[in-house]
Amino acid sequence: MPAVSDDDLQALAAAARAAREHAHAPYSRFRVGAALLDEHGRVHCGCNVENAAYPQSLCAEAVALGALVSAGARRVRAVVVAGGDGPEALMPCGGCRQKLAEFAAADTPVASVDPHGWRARHTLGELLPFAFGQGHVKPR
Ligand code: THU
Repeated sequence: MPAVSDDDLQALAAAARAAREHAHAPYSRFRVGAALLDEHGRVHCGCNVENAAYPQSLCAEAVALGALVSAGARRVRAVVVAGGDGPEALMPCGGCRQKLAEFAAADTPVASVDPHGWRARHTLGELLPFAFGQGHVKPR
């Protein structure tokens, strides 16, 4: 698979910001967008979808993963999350890091943007070291 380019990341940032505009976040008022690059070069987006029964809410990354898998893709090559311009860069929550790890490698870039620019860039392995994965449930 080709390396993830700066153009790829720019396209993901635009898609994540656009998805964030559709967030359903009437309870937290904290809007999030996420965009994923798959193994075919396609981009899949999601936004957070909250619910009056709060625990039923969905994170943007989980919604984007659902879109990627239901489009027939199986690999996540890059992740961009889009948040507001708060004091701390938005980062995927712990549960979403685990969800992403099902389809992404430790060296997969995970970047964060706000409406004005780039806020952070890490790898999934930095965000979720010693991840639990397929190797644990399906030992050789
Ligand atoms: N949220 C996400 O969508 N992704 C994250 O990684 C962090 C949190 C959402 C969940 C909830 O709708 C709102 O942000 C506040 O927690």
